[in-house]
Amino acid sequence: MDSGSVFASLVQAPEDPILGVTVAYNKDPSPNKLNLGVGAYRTEEGKPLVLDVVRRAEQLLVNDQSRVKEYLPIVGLADFNKLSAKLIFGADSPAIQANRVATVQCLSGTGSLRVGAEFLARHYHQLTIYIPQPTWGNHPKVFTLAGLSVKTYRYYDPATRGLNFQGLLEDLGAATSGAIVLLHACAHNPTGVDPTLEQWEQIRQLMRSKGLLPFFDSAYQGFASGSLDADAQPVRMFVADGGECLAAQSYAKNMGLYGERVGALSIVCKTADVASKVESQLKLVIRPMYSNPPIHGASIVATILKDSKMYDEWTVELKAMADRIISMRKQLFDALSARGTPGDWSHIIKQIGMFTFTGLNGEQVAFMTKEYHIYMTSDGRISMAGLSSKTVPHLADAIHSAVTRMG
Ligand code: LMR
Repeated sequence: MDSGSVFASLVQAPEDPILGVTVAYNKDPSPNKLNLGVGAYRTEEGKPLVLDVVRRAEQLLVNDQSRVKEYLPIVGLADFNKLSAKLIFGADSPAIQANRVATVQCLSGTGSLRVGAEFLARHYHQLTIYIPQPTWGNHPKVFTLAGLSVKTYRYYDPATRGLNFQGLLEDLGAATSGAIVLLHACAHNPTGVDPTLEQWEQIRQLMRSKGLLPFFDSAYQGFASGSLDADAQPVRMFVADGGECLAAQSYAKNMGLYGERVGALSIVCKTADVASKVESQLKLVIRPMYSNPPIHGASIVATILKDSKMYDEWTVELKAMADRIISMRKQLFDALSARGTPGDWSHIIKQIGMFTFTGLNGEQVAFMTKEYHIYMTSDGRISMAGLSSKTVPHLADAIHSAVTRMG
């Protein structure tokens, strides 16, 4: 029917493949429903968690009458930027000491990727970016809309449910020289499969020999192993060789600041002079996009990172979240073993980070949603952080039933 609207010819767009899972979950009236779609941490009680240290930092901010709500500079909060670079590159990073890093506060990981990609599309000589196959569903959209041309490199081997290292080396070896390569710094989303440090070293050598430009997406620092330093190791290896790279950081998961949209983009350059020019150009990308970033989330992060006591408290709370996820892996694996579910499920305990890439197909996922009210992305990814001791048996029953009926 012609409503007379100038938009009458629009078609209804599909929901987002990840965030749309939550939309469907919210509409389900079942009391047993379980949302394992979006990567968002839940407690054993299934509730979202605000870290104690975050609450305390917020209290300090609220009580400080000298704080105002003025605009931040285009690049964001200076302290936050310095501390964020330190967090990912290490306190003793030679690149930071030499002022070779340009860091700008952005809207969490997605915003950092987008600003970085827009910058590259304007100023880098190679517009091709290679992303792993598979990768986070938003990656290709972010890069394409920023003006880059997206190609993939082999990453995951469905047969072993592990890394296809040979395929990865072959594809990066055959990549156009100078191309950009997106690397998940740790806890690869959606597969939970990371290269070993030895493999990272080979990737580094290959990429540097071909002049490929690394763009790290670091959305889970501290979440993979429970250690902030261990999870940043791959990034630090690339910075230690003196070469250039980009890194997008998110505080959504590791500080639980999802809705505050707080993150940072750092570009490590060869010299301080280049870094200063890069920063000046990043400002030209940001100003017409959203002018300047929001103040609250970045102030929370800066408050925590600059106080050694609060920082230590954060690492303890972060480790507790990582440990709970690791324990969920063990419990789910044990529950499937106890049920004698056909197949090898050892990847559940081998994969790391927030997600397990179960290997369940779209049909099995749809069955589990329909019959068991379990919500997950159609590629078979489950967010281990959404699981609890109470809900593991329900999930194990659903997987068992899906595999035995439609295996
Ligand atoms: C996810 O993959 O579930 C998270 O990174 C959340 C998101 O924005 O998709």
